Amino acid sequence: MWRPRERIRWQPDPGIWPGADEAAGAKLFQPIDIGPTQLEACTWVPAMVPWRATGDGEVTDNVLDWYGRFARGRPGAIVVEATGIRDVPSGPLLRIGDDRFIPGLKKLTETVRRESDGHTKLFIQLIDFLAVRRRPDPAKYFERFLKITERHRDALDAQEWTEDKVRSQMAGLPEDELADVLTPRELESLHQGYRERVTDTDLPQIAELPAALPGLFADAARRARDAGFDGVELHYAHAYTMASFLSALNTRGDGYGGSRENRARLPLEVYDAVRAAVGDDYVVGTRFLSEDCIDGGNTVEDAAYFGAAFAKAGFDVLSLSRGGKFEDAKRPAVGQAAYPYTGPSGYECMPQFISDARGPFGRNVEPVAAIRDAVRKAGCETPVVLTGGIHGFRQAEDILQADQADIIGFARQSLADPDWFRKVRGGHGDAVRVCEYTNYCEALDQKHVPVTCQLWDRKGLDEPGIAKTQDGKRRLTAPEWEPDKS
Ligand SMILES: Cc1cc2nc3c(=O)[nH]c(=O)nc-3n(C[C@H](O)[C@H](O)[C@H](O)COP(=O)(O)O)c2cc1C
Ligand code: SF4
Repeated sequence: MWRPRERIRWQPDPGIWPGADEAAGAKLFQPIDIGPTQLEACTWVPAMVPWRATGDGEVTDNVLDWYGRFARGRPGAIVVEATGIRDVPSGPLLRIGDDRFIPGLKKLTETVRRESDGHTKLFIQLIDFLAVRRRPDPAKYFERFLKITERHRDALDAQEWTEDKVRSQMAGLPEDELADVLTPRELESLHQGYRERVTDTDLPQIAELPAALPGLFADAARRARDAGFDGVELHYAHAYTMASFLSALNTRGDGYGGSRENRARLPLEVYDAVRAAVGDDYVVGTRFLSEDCIDGGNTVEDAAYFGAAFAKAGFDVLSLSRGGKFEDAKRPAVGQAAYPYTGPSGYECMPQFISDARGPFGRNVEPVAAIRDAVRKAGCETPVVLTGGIHGFRQAEDILQADQADIIGFARQSLADPDWFRKVRGGHGDAVRVCEYTNYCEALDQKHVPVTCQLWDRKGLDEPGIAKTQDGKRRLTAPEWEPDKS
């Protein structure tokens, strides 16, 4: 992962933990209305892909155990990982693109309801993504994948050559000369792997996205409702289709790109279709970016505009992440796909303990506060969720007291210790296993293997009945905690 040049090592500092009485009076542990429902506390576990679904996108026992474990910590809400809305193979990522996925997802909602004793609300994140191919072997790229064009022949002065000769000539060119022969897009396909963009409107499947996506999201949301989820979160963040529509880099000329108003058009049409499918008495939220954190991408002013537009349209909750884009991703190894959390924007999304003078904790606070302000100025009381490096009680409570956000998201901190909420609420903050922000978990995510936390995955491996990774070396859920054992 990319890290800031300064390389300053930061230690998490949760500060003084509250006693049970102080916690009981804290804003963090007060109920909050989200559209037609209510959370019992202003605490939130944002979506995290744990790589536990089957290759066909079905819920497994390990998926149930994973979310059941978070539920026993009793956060106000859990958002289930990014779940694909199309019925197409996408590896061990959960899917909701067909009614056959409903029974498995139903088990998931029942598990969370049972394990939290009805205290935690459960939402599911709905995602669409475009095709991303692995970085090709250069020999194969020039032999097979590259489409030879007049531009190549002109650049090589090779009008009369056979195609094979053009290909082999290009394969032998030094790196610095390739840039004169290949287009920037071809060069990107060679170095990063081919990646579709929302601006590729010459491709029918991309041109048709505005026609296809409202129905796909609406059907998925209806299935989420049938499976018993308390609501859906439309994934408009990071490197995926909807975030790309919102991005200032979206120059589509069909009314769905260019101005902010046009970039918000499809996200709002998707919202309308989802709302029509699930009705007014169901939570529809979205996660989007406070800043794209890439050259030419969205700024906080763009996000403030979108926040106000989404709130006015009727979204029940707005959750803000930042960065996580393909545009600045590290060049993957041959045979691997680019990963959107490996560049500077990826760092902004999941900042690690080696950081710059600003440090990895709370980098999203100011942008989110500005977006919340714009939402309030637009006359909307829509709750805003802030996530990013939050691990201490005071840190979270101060943000709420300062009206910078309404709900606090704890992603890696709740992975490190799913009982954070129960411990802090009960005056047992000293027993919290504090996240060290090493991104060990994130490295596992990047390898598409089961995500665990280094603070607990080697603990109690001989405990009877615990689920482990296939090699038996890591446990798949955090050890249990009881107050009297702390
Ligand atoms: C293993 C892992 C998987 C993640 N998967 C998702 C995801 O499916 N959807 C999403 O919006 N964010 C995802 N994220 C980002 C987190 O939700 C969160 O925004 C980020 O980790 C920063 O918050 P934190 O500092 O509290 O960890 C993931 C993060 C991790 C560590
Ligand atoms: S592995 Fe554990 S301690 Fe390290 S960043 Fe992830 S959750 Fe935090």
